Amino acid sequence: MICNNISVNGAGHLTFAGVDTVELAKKYGTPLYLTDGDKIRENCRVYLEAMREAFGEAAMPLYASKAASYKEIYRIMKAMGMGIDVVSSGEVYTAMSVGFPMENAYFHSNNKTDADIEYAMDANIGYFVVDNIEELDAIAKIAARRGVKQNILLRLTPGIDPHTYAAVATGKVDSKFGSAIETGQAEELAVYAMGLESIKLCGFHCHVGSQVFDSDVFVRSAEIMLDFVCMMKNMHGFTTEILDLGGGYGVRYLDSDPTIDIRASILEVGRFVKSHCETIGIECPAIRMEPGRSIVADAGMTLYTVGTVKRIPGYKNYVSVDGGMADNPRFALYGSPYTVVMANKMADAGESFVATVAGRCCESGDIIQEGVTLPASATRGDTLAVLTTGAYNYSMASNYNRLPKPPMVMLEGGNDRIVIKGETFEDVARYDV
Ligand code: LLP
Repeated sequence: MICNNISVNGAGHLTFAGVDTVELAKKYGTPLYLTDGDKIRENCRVYLEAMREAFGEAAMPLYASKAASYKEIYRIMKAMGMGIDVVSSGEVYTAMSVGFPMENAYFHSNNKTDADIEYAMDANIGYFVVDNIEELDAIAKIAARRGVKQNILLRLTPGIDPHTYAAVATGKVDSKFGSAIETGQAEELAVYAMGLESIKLCGFHCHVGSQVFDSDVFVRSAEIMLDFVCMMKNMHGFTTEILDLGGGYGVRYLDSDPTIDIRASILEVGRFVKSHCETIGIECPAIRMEPGRSIVADAGMTLYTVGTVKRIPGYKNYVSVDGGMADNPRFALYGSPYTVVMANKMADAGESFVATVAGRCCESGDIIQEGVTLPASATRGDTLAVLTTGAYNYSMASNYNRLPKPPMVMLEGGNDRIVIKGETFEDVARYDV
């Protein structure tokens, strides 16, 4: 199977983190998000250990919590000694509400409102990752009024094409994010930040894209960023304390997807960073990386119950499930691939057929996946599993068609427990007047 936490038991049922998924579907109902808590910890450890080895003790991975944001995950990040990347006051609130040490939180986004800035400062946020001059001025003004000196990083665009899908490519010069090195705006902004009384410029950030499998993308962006750090030292006498290389390591959704050994890749980036710092004559800044997807994706799975199986002879087949784009909008948005299996029929040796797995929302675009091979015996009541749904599923879910969001169950050491309750119809209509 695509990940080592997935298997099949003697009953021919799919297991996840050692637990029978068909039993879980019965116990909690469907749709159901599953999260393998042990896998999340294992994924964190890869970053914690590899980054320390590659960049030294001052290095720290920040979990990009946009990938999956809920109280329990911030508790896990706190316990693991990870930092976090947050992008909204809602994420700040959630992290703070479980006592996450906010000095290790970095507030991103390309357009923080004044209310966001005030809220995050009230929460004693560690750093703002500042995107542009308007934002910098707004933060400086609010910090000055409060009589504080606010730590910031500047988000820069190194001008790199990460060769991924357009919606997640962010490092190119024309990106909506950051200030471009190539156009001179990055230097201008850095010099301006250095002169602001209420701002402490701690360093620089870049994030070139998501679902990246090529180490070279990280090496090249590190090179451009380090050269910028060197220029800032030589031209402006500025010492960079922190260099954040962003997130983006890819995960496998299909068996045919490429693999990347994240540990080996981080060590490769580390060797480059060390040698390049020596070559250009700078101290190596404390390195940050911001993995989101690669921390949570393979720790997730979604279970559904099959409703209708529709065969349109000579055209196509549909297997419709009791969830869809409301709990996983990624196929509708990006055409994202997923591995889909019939969890209660893993040992079915009979005929198979190719079907489109469709959701229950009232629109044709509500598709979970096209061209899925399933047992021809597929029928109402079967349990269908979509694998590797831990990233950007729950966090992008909606109440379209007034569907309540499904619960999330965490699996740890063979035990299961609710970490997010399923919404009720009352919840969905809560703010209607
Ligand atoms: N840091 C920054 C500044 C980011 O913008 C992102 C992702 C990350 C880190 C984490 O990247 P990751 O390690 O997860 O690739 N909704 C899209 C993904 C959007 C990614 C946005 N930024 C999807 O479902 O594919």
